[in-house]
Amino acid sequence: MSGSLKGQVAVVTGANSGVGRSATGMLLRVGAHVTMVCRSPERGERALAELRQSAAAGGSRRTQGRASADEMPDLTSGDSAGARVELELADLSGQEDVRDLAARLAAKHPAIDILVNNAGVTRPRCVHSPEGFELTFATNHLGHFLLTRLLRDRLEAGRGRIVNVSSRGHQSGDLRRAELEDIARGRAWEGALQAYADSKLANVLFTSETARRWGSRGVTANAVHPGVLATEIWKKTSLAARVLVLPFTWFMASPEVGGKAVMNLVADPSRDDVTGRYFHVQQEKTPSAQARDEALACELWDRSVEWTRG
Ligand SMILES: NC(=O)c1ccc[n+]([C@@H]2O[C@H](COP(=O)([O-])OP(=O)(O)OC[C@H]3O[C@@H](n4cnc5c(N)ncnc54)[C@H](OP(=O)(O)O)[C@@H]3O)[C@@H](O)[C@H]2O)c1
Repeated sequence: MSGSLKGQVAVVTGANSGVGRSATGMLLRVGAHVTMVCRSPERGERALAELRQSAAAGGSRRTQGRASADEMPDLTSGDSAGARVELELADLSGQEDVRDLAARLAAKHPAIDILVNNAGVTRPRCVHSPEGFELTFATNHLGHFLLTRLLRDRLEAGRGRIVNVSSRGHQSGDLRRAELEDIARGRAWEGALQAYADSKLANVLFTSETARRWGSRGVTANAVHPGVLATEIWKKTSLAARVLVLPFTWFMASPEVGGKAVMNLVADPSRDDVTGRYFHVQQEKTPSAQARDEALACELWDRSVEWTRG
């Protein structure tokens, strides 16, 4: 499926756990230089140390729970994967943090080949970001929107492969149920699941609009549902959802399934010209009707520009 990404520069958000961590391990194994973006110094440092240790041991250790070891071939021919991974700290829900992060990344990397907008959160209650946006929307959509736009010239200078980790749950998203401003600011809050679905719909709309607006500049953007996976995300949701879902995590797929879904979009040369699409794990699918609404995608982009103007 994948070729070598030797020497390519990748940035993965939410890289200390789940899909992001798995994708980081796989990117390292095919030779990429990876910057992990994490919000918690403790969790970030721990994951960094474990990934380095795993790289030193040949990358064959389990990465989470009962997950199988990742099956990517090691294409690095002996160079040190541990030396190719680094950590940047940023809380993507805060725009100041995102601007600082983008400035640090831009200073370090004249070109960025791969950007995996993966970090995701669901909040049981309506809480707000430093700029007054509903936190799920601020993290899952606005933080990545701002980061990607700030890195545009670096992405254009590199391979410019953007993967937005969305969810099948985007199908329940409804950004027409109220004014976009009211949804973004949590004034139209209808519970944690709706907020999450709305943010994942925003991921798909952002993807197609990026492809439309930036397509001529060699940048590609695709969205992916990584699978229904046994990751930490289920432990962070509302009590009701936890009670409902946690017993079933035992039957869910491993985070590696999500890592491979990401790799499918960044490492497979046959996908180099694929852009603006939605993938269900490895397979291209048609997203929801609202996710295909070009007027909504355009409106969301323009409003997001206004909302992230510092
Ligand atoms: N698991 C599934 O079944 C599933 C299904 C569909 C889609 N997804 C999507 O897959 C992506 C990855 O989720 P996962 O399942 O791997 O869950 P996860 O294990 O909880 O990983 C989420 C990552 O995002 C980070 N994050 C959360 N808020 C952040 C913030 N404000 N700033 C920076 N990083 C932040 C988390 O950091 P902390 O560790 O500090 O919280 C963590 O590293 C998400 O976008 C999710 O919506 C997952």
